[in-house]
Amino acid sequence: MSMTPYIPYLATIKEVKELTDDTKNFRVEFDDPKLREGWTFKPGQFVEVSAFGFGEVPISIASSPTLQGCFELAIRDSGRVTAAFQSMKSGDKIGVRGPYGNWWPYDKLRGENITIIAGGIGLAACSNVLRYMIDKKAGYGDVQLLYGAVIPRKLVFRDEYEAWREAGVDVHITVDQRVGDWRGNVGLVTWLFNDQPAPELEKVEIPSDAKVFVCGPAVMIHFCCLDLVELGFKQEDIYVNLEGHMKCGVGKCGHCNIGPKYVCRDGPIFTYAQKRMLERYQTTR
Ligand SMILES: Cc1cc2nc3c(=O)[nH]c(=O)nc-3n(C[C@H](O)[C@H](O)[C@H](O)COP(=O)(O)OP(=O)(O)OC[C@H]3O[C@@H](n4cnc5c(N)ncnc54)[C@H](O)[C@@H]3O)c2cc1C
Ligand code: FES
Repeated sequence: MSMTPYIPYLATIKEVKELTDDTKNFRVEFDDPKLREGWTFKPGQFVEVSAFGFGEVPISIASSPTLQGCFELAIRDSGRVTAAFQSMKSGDKIGVRGPYGNWWPYDKLRGENITIIAGGIGLAACSNVLRYMIDKKAGYGDVQLLYGAVIPRKLVFRDEYEAWREAGVDVHITVDQRVGDWRGNVGLVTWLFNDQPAPELEKVEIPSDAKVFVCGPAVMIHFCCLDLVELGFKQEDIYVNLEGHMKCGVGKCGHCNIGPKYVCRDGPIFTYAQKRMLERYQTTR
């Protein structure tokens, strides 16, 4: 069965895991067996998921395509539809259409050192490529993850950091504020590598030839890219995930349009050079 990009297909939630007090991880399977076996995506793409009676939202596919027969979504309660997902349980039905958008340039960057910098729920938008590179480790150089959240209990995928380290990823975690018995880094994720004096944090060196993937809140992406450029990284070697306001996800409704681009169709992943070009349209609108 081939998929029509405009139609949501029935899928079943197979497992729900609490990631934080406002974010849950859902393992999902399509109901149609042929779709379940044949459906695939590239790391970085997203799906439009519907909570029946509430609406539809774009959500990054958090798992790697190397996980077959099912996929995972990490959904944070940000409003009407995403809140409806928080009370869903195993066995509940949802609608899924996609995959949509472009993907991290994992295929053309084989053999390269890759650094992922993520903030908050943004890790869900690049955990797909991180997991993919772990599964295909021989194809890549050094893989590094710099991840930060506001407070320790907002860190997502906490039970996986050790396994990622064991798989050879150079993992560095930080939180903006120390809370409870947190013994790790304290400071913004950019402080891990910029020249900000930060006594409570262990500085990290990003390999100078690394290609850098950045995902997180807009303000974090903005300052992260400025710091990376100041360190000497080329704008073309920095890739960002832009989460514009989307409706259709397929380049038809115009909600996500910026200048000549539709974020849903031409993105959501752009180089920093492309992001700078798009910002000119946003300020002149
Ligand atoms: C490509 C893409 C991938 C995404 N991946 C994930 C993911 O993996 N996990 C996850 O939890 N969320 C993800 N999001 C964000 C998610 O789609 C929004 O949180 C969701 O659409 C909000 O809908 P709602 O009905 O729950 O909230 P609403 O009630 O519609 O809105 C609540 C508030 O959020 C604002 N808002 C609505 N949509 C967006 C948006 N797209 N970006 C920023 N603010 C918005 C509204 O203006 C309002 O202030 C992604 C968004 C995009 C575009
Ligand atoms: S979301 Fe409709 S055109 Fe991009």
